[in-house]
Amino acid sequence: MRQILYVSTSTVTGDKADLVGILEQSRHNNAIDGITGLLWSDGTRFLQVIEGPTASIDSTFERILNDHRHHGLSLQHNISIRDRQFGGWTMAHRRATDPVDAYDARMRRPLAGASDAVRSPFLSLMATGTLGT
Ligand SMILES: Cc1cc2nc3c(=O)[nH]c(=O)nc-3n(C[C@H](O)[C@H](O)[C@H](O)COP(=O)(O)O)c2cc1C
Repeated sequence: MRQILYVSTSTVTGDKADLVGILEQSRHNNAIDGITGLLWSDGTRFLQVIEGPTASIDSTFERILNDHRHHGLSLQHNISIRDRQFGGWTMAHRRATDPVDAYDARMRRPLAGASDAVRSPFLSLMATGTLGT
């Protein structure tokens, strides 16, 4: 199995960002492709980890790379893994009305089983707005 972690910048920010569309497509496709992971967004940036069978990850990442809804994608790691770190696909999506605390709490639970290399950038972005590098 393979796991990819990347950060990118949304092309369109604010209410016009197509977060709902991205979430729908991802949940649908990933269930079929056996991909699990986590997507974080503050409406401006994305941080995503995807994991699953190598062939599925390769084709999904190829589509994500070519998606014009974001740009400046920076690969943090692309590694071989033995076990999944995200048992179910979890994607948090903060609506304007959601309190920030509730959103962060939803992200922390799936992150509990992740490696430090994956957990650190998520927690750092949520807490400080930077990757901490
Ligand atoms: C930040 C971001 C994350 C995405 N994550 C996924 C994903 O996990 N799985 C997926 O299939 N598509 C994901 N997509 C969408 C793909 O880029 C692509 O639009 C989609 O897979 C096409 O699916 P379709 O051919 O079924 O419409 C993501 C797009 C963006 C911008």
